[in-house]
Amino acid sequence: RASTKAQGVGSAPVNIALSKYWGKRDAVLNLPQNGSVSISLPGLGSETQLKPAVAQDSVWLNDQQLDASAPFAKRLSEFLNLFRTAEVPFFEVVTQNSVPTAAGLASSASGYAALVLALDDLFDWQLPMTQLSLLARMGSGSASRSLYPGFAIWHAGQQGDGLDSFAEALDAPWPEFCVGLVEIDVAEKPVGSTAGMQQTTAACALYQAWPAQAERDKAVIIDAIRAQDFSRLGATAEHNALSMHATMIASWPPLLYWQAESVIAMQQVWTLRQQGVEVYFTMDAGPNLKLLFLAAQKKAVSAAFPGLKVIEPFSS
Ligand code: PMV
Repeated sequence: RASTKAQGVGSAPVNIALSKYWGKRDAVLNLPQNGSVSISLPGLGSETQLKPAVAQDSVWLNDQQLDASAPFAKRLSEFLNLFRTAEVPFFEVVTQNSVPTAAGLASSASGYAALVLALDDLFDWQLPMTQLSLLARMGSGSASRSLYPGFAIWHAGQQGDGLDSFAEALDAPWPEFCVGLVEIDVAEKPVGSTAGMQQTTAACALYQAWPAQAERDKAVIIDAIRAQDFSRLGATAEHNALSMHATMIASWPPLLYWQAESVIAMQQVWTLRQQGVEVYFTMDAGPNLKLLFLAAQKKAVSAAFPGLKVIEPFSS
């Protein structure tokens, strides 16, 4: 603590789950019902500067100061309660997001990962990544995976204290691997993922089957990544995402993040596959699609989705 700096900085990428986290076994510690696997998207994410403040927290997002009562600022201040000291009673947090905030593009994941890295820098903890992942998890579950480039595995863990629930890198570079972002709507989603998970786990019989399937899918996807078996990875990821959304649709009141254009895009993906273009999709708590394909299909996929933003996580 003696080595607190004048400022801490951190930056982290967004990540897309290939096998999803959906449902909490502990909502305070953000302990998941199941493990998950993700791919980070370099060049999209959050950059955060953190400074000690005197009278109150101040939170800046994309050059705008947020009202302390704004949900984003309140959630951040609650997370920062874990880290206040006599020397640093309050924080000034300045974050730039290069993704639309709260549009199902995981800005909370990169945001909390960047914040934890900035805390590590400010207080000079020099903690290992797995420990930082554990802390990021408490801000937003999926943030646990955003500490790493490339593929990451978040272990659900079994302990009540969550000390075994953190993400690790799955070091398996795959240069041909591409992710395409189909932006259907970037407006803030009406139901956040925490509320969505609560609604699904409380009122959906189908959800009972989810945690076991998610663990199986996770294992298949990890094997497929190691074997660079794209067909197996893509099919499992798409099926996993649709199964997660099925639990939401089958809850009451129903929860449907899709828009009409989302369904049109899904059908386009299926048509492309019938035509021999190997492309799969995944979707999170929002209407946007993320396409998975290999570099050889980049031209065909981009032609079918004009304006597609293509990210190649392993080619720098
Ligand atoms: O980390 P949260 O609370 O934003 O939840 C993320 C949930 C999904 O994006 C739908 C799935 C996932 O594993 O990222």
